[in-house]
Amino acid sequence: MLDTITVRRMPFAFSEEIDPVVFPGDHARSFGLIAGSLLLPHLEPYLIRSMKAARPHVRDPEILDGLDRFAAQEGHHYRMHMKFNAAVRRAGFPGLEALEKELSDDYHRFSRERSLRFNLAYAEGFEALSMNAIKAMMEPDGFGEDLPEFMQMFEWHFVEELEHRTVTFDVYDHVVGGYFYRLFVGAWAQWHFTRWMRRVAAYMLKVCPQPKTPGTERDGAPRPPRQPNLLAQLPMLLRIYSPTYTPHKVEIAPGMERLARKYSEMALKTS
Ligand SMILES: [Fe+2]
Ligand SMILES: [Fe+2]
Repeated sequence: MLDTITVRRMPFAFSEEIDPVVFPGDHARSFGLIAGSLLLPHLEPYLIRSMKAARPHVRDPEILDGLDRFAAQEGHHYRMHMKFNAAVRRAGFPGLEALEKELSDDYHRFSRERSLRFNLAYAEGFEALSMNAIKAMMEPDGFGEDLPEFMQMFEWHFVEELEHRTVTFDVYDHVVGGYFYRLFVGAWAQWHFTRWMRRVAAYMLKVCPQPKTPGTERDGAPRPPRQPNLLAQLPMLLRIYSPTYTPHKVEIAPGMERLARKYSEMALKTS
């Protein structure tokens, strides 16, 4: 299920002004989501650079096709998030600039100075953990009906993440390989980017704290994605660290295929 990688150019456009409390009354979850969006225009270009560096070493045409489609999908993802992030920045969080610069410097340094093996293991560490998180948040049927545009953007993005879930695993395995190296660098990568996201969300909460009296939920206001239950997630987490793990064996709910079709229909262009 969900085993083709379709590159979709999406029509999302965000208004100039966005209330950064995207889930009314819930600052923590709003800023958690925004931290993820702010990560991507730094992380995804780094993933693309790593895949392109691996490309000359790939001999298998199927893996090569996956690599090219992965790079094209990720390119669309971060450009779309940049539009959303620009609107968030206009809401005034001046400390974000320094946090983003630190992250961007890290990723450029990794591309320049770290081995291809490190960069490919980092990429798979990110893809494996995000696949788990996306499955926990979105299965079986996505985020729901009548979503605001920014939630549709996340839903489209996450469906494509599931579509390309095998690519970085296959490229790592084909070009460099080695379970223990992937395990340790992958786990370090997961610490590296989740720590940055936690710092961003904490900074935003400091600037714009949760009000003491809970706000009343507005009818029709966007709701945050389901919070993954950590205990229920444990088997999935252990699975990506297992020596027998392969994303090829991960089951994807049929509802994700329906969403993939929905976003293909909405796309300006597919390839
Ligand atoms: Fe992506
Ligand atoms: Fe991805």
